[in-house]
Amino acid sequence: MTAVGIDAIEIWTGKLALDLAETFAPAKDENPEKYTKGLGLEVSSFPDTYEDIVTMGANAAKRLMDRTGLEPDDIGRIDVATESAFDNSKPVSTYIAGCLEDVYDGDFHHANKGERKFACVAGTQSIDDAYNWIKAGRNRGRAALVIATDTALYARGDPGEATQGAGAVAMLVDEDPSVVELSTDQGYGSADETDFLKPNQQFPSVDGKRSVQVYLARMREALEDFESVAGRTHPDDYAYIPFHTPFPGMVRKAALLGFRHMTRDTEIEDGLADEIGRQPREADFEDWDAYEDAIREYMDALKETDTYDTWYARAIDPTLTLSRQVGNWYTGSIHVARASALKTAAETGRALSGEKLLLGSYGSGAQAEIHSETVVDGWREEVEAFDIDEQLSRRYDLSFEEYGRVHDAHNHEKERELEEFTVPSGEFVFTGWGRMNERKYEYVD
Ligand code: CAA
Repeated sequence: MTAVGIDAIEIWTGKLALDLAETFAPAKDENPEKYTKGLGLEVSSFPDTYEDIVTMGANAAKRLMDRTGLEPDDIGRIDVATESAFDNSKPVSTYIAGCLEDVYDGDFHHANKGERKFACVAGTQSIDDAYNWIKAGRNRGRAALVIATDTALYARGDPGEATQGAGAVAMLVDEDPSVVELSTDQGYGSADETDFLKPNQQFPSVDGKRSVQVYLARMREALEDFESVAGRTHPDDYAYIPFHTPFPGMVRKAALLGFRHMTRDTEIEDGLADEIGRQPREADFEDWDAYEDAIREYMDALKETDTYDTWYARAIDPTLTLSRQVGNWYTGSIHVARASALKTAAETGRALSGEKLLLGSYGSGAQAEIHSETVVDGWREEVEAFDIDEQLSRRYDLSFEEYGRVHDAHNHEKERELEEFTVPSGEFVFTGWGRMNERKYEYVD
């Protein structure tokens, strides 16, 4: 059976930076540690005035095509996942294809293009679509370009404001991949929820506290569903467990729940019994509240153990390094988490070929998907080609007053007249609107 999976990855960050501890916290009169320790975020990436979901997606895709030597004819499918779309009819993938056709010979006239929407889980769903398309034998030897691109902006003053971010991840899904092979094992947790939504509005309506609970509930459901097809999961089975990361503090909560679930009735639970007791079992309690109190107590003790700490440092923390520096990229977030883990492995000389990853994707509204992947030979060269560190260090550091003006410049309801903060070079830029209110782009050498 032909292996199908992710063959190449490129990341493009918004070119502005908002420092949460140095700039955002003082302006909000908040303790910086609420952001750096509580949420686990240092900096948010922001789009410059000439950037948007199309430019970031097209720039990531161009870098990917240039590096891998792909021509438009090699691509049979372009799917864009976003929750920041500005058009209810014309998909972002057509704009991105148009940008790319301006700089390559050939075109994408025979590529199937679309746009996937289910909040942040849509990036993973697009990969699933590409996988199914190739496995069904409909790809005619061609690869799929999947682009997750978002400007994750919240209304000024919303509690989510600290978790903003902007960037794109382009991924090539192909036969005989060079980064990870996907498996057919998947689990879903999906329900009609009202936690985070954008009913025809640019900035989200968010019930922040509830969204955290819904994330955890759906993720747990997805893990149980995954285990029903793939068998019991065990913490030692996976080199890394990247989660959707709206902010690292969210992953801290999900990882603890996941670890408790995976270690139940294992030698790890036995080994911890002397130190913190055994996990509470519902059958041992007369009422639900007492059971929940016991679980909370067990979890509080569990997170202080060396066993948990060592696992978290190995399997979870490396997935969060980039997220701390860029904030939430919605559809791209879990793919940034995967990239972050692989990058850490490359930097620390870790052997990873043949090792498994377990991915926990999530989209509000709400759906979680758990699936596993196997890292394949070639991953190290792919990951060593990332230039994300240079991109991050080149970002323009916004003052709070500048941040306010950039936020306004990206507000669809306000006039945008702001000068750019950075000088575009070798990239696609937004240049204004055309006669039918379409957006216009050009490539700047
Ligand atoms: N030092 C250390 N920690 C501190 C601190 C300090 N001085 N001050 C506060 N903290 C901690 C708090 O204890 C809290 O941690 P715990 O949750 O572990 O207790 C953390 O910092 C955040 O503090 P608050 O809960 O007081 O923060 P908040 O209410 O202002 O905002 C939020 C939190 C509601 C999640 C908000 O960020 C939000 O609305 N975010 C957008 C929605 C979101 O991202 N939800 C996540 C799940 S939904 C999803 O994943 C989809 C998506 O991408 C949007």
